[in-house]
Amino acid sequence: MPARFPRGARSKGQRLRLRDYSPSDFNALFELDQQCFVEGIAYSRAELRRYIDRKGAFVIVAEGAAGKIAGFLVGLHHRDYGWIVTIDVRDSARRTGLGTQLMAAAEKRFRGLKAGAVILEVAVNNIPAVNFYKRLGYSVIRTIPRYYLDSLDAFQMAKLLD
Ligand SMILES: CC(C)(COP(=O)(O)OP(=O)(O)OC[C@H]1O[C@@H](n2cnc3c(N)ncnc32)[C@H](O)[C@@H]1OP(=O)(O)O)[C@@H](O)C(=O)NCCC(=O)NCCS
Repeated sequence: MPARFPRGARSKGQRLRLRDYSPSDFNALFELDQQCFVEGIAYSRAELRRYIDRKGAFVIVAEGAAGKIAGFLVGLHHRDYGWIVTIDVRDSARRTGLGTQLMAAAEKRFRGLKAGAVILEVAVNNIPAVNFYKRLGYSVIRTIPRYYLDSLDAFQMAKLLD
């Protein structure tokens, strides 16, 4: 199988490799998502499974040497654009460049699918994530009222792919 991912990230001295999802990852991804997001924003098992199984969806998994999953990203290709469904990096692996590597791998995948842009939503109070996306070249295109929990607004952010 051809290498589809950039070189592995290095996280706190641990070598990570990016790979495709396998169904046996599901529980670990679900648990990581529960740790990354508060109740009500974190996906239920059924929601996560529904996104992973959607037509046009892909999952990129970052795995450490001992097989422990340090992060993952769910992307969805729809018509001429890509959508970041979620990106989750384990607390202990943050600020090491892993999120950036996952986004780069997703953008590469979207480019290969001829997507012209990538869009995503992020809670307006998720300052780390808003900063993260801005640093990667994403801009706020609109605010979606009460997107989360029927009370918390979201920024919709987008980036044009060249
Ligand atoms: C957002 C998230 C994916 C970032 O992953 P990460 O692996 O820590 O990101 P990187 O190490 O690649 O960070 C790249 C840059 O993003 C910005 N950034 C990342 N985390 C930040 C934080 N907590 N505060 C401010 N800026 C931050 C910085 O500019 C950082 O560069 P620097 O470390 O050289 O300053 C991660 O914090 C996460 O999983 N959070 C919980 C889940 C979440 O909120 N997902 C996004 C929902 S839409």
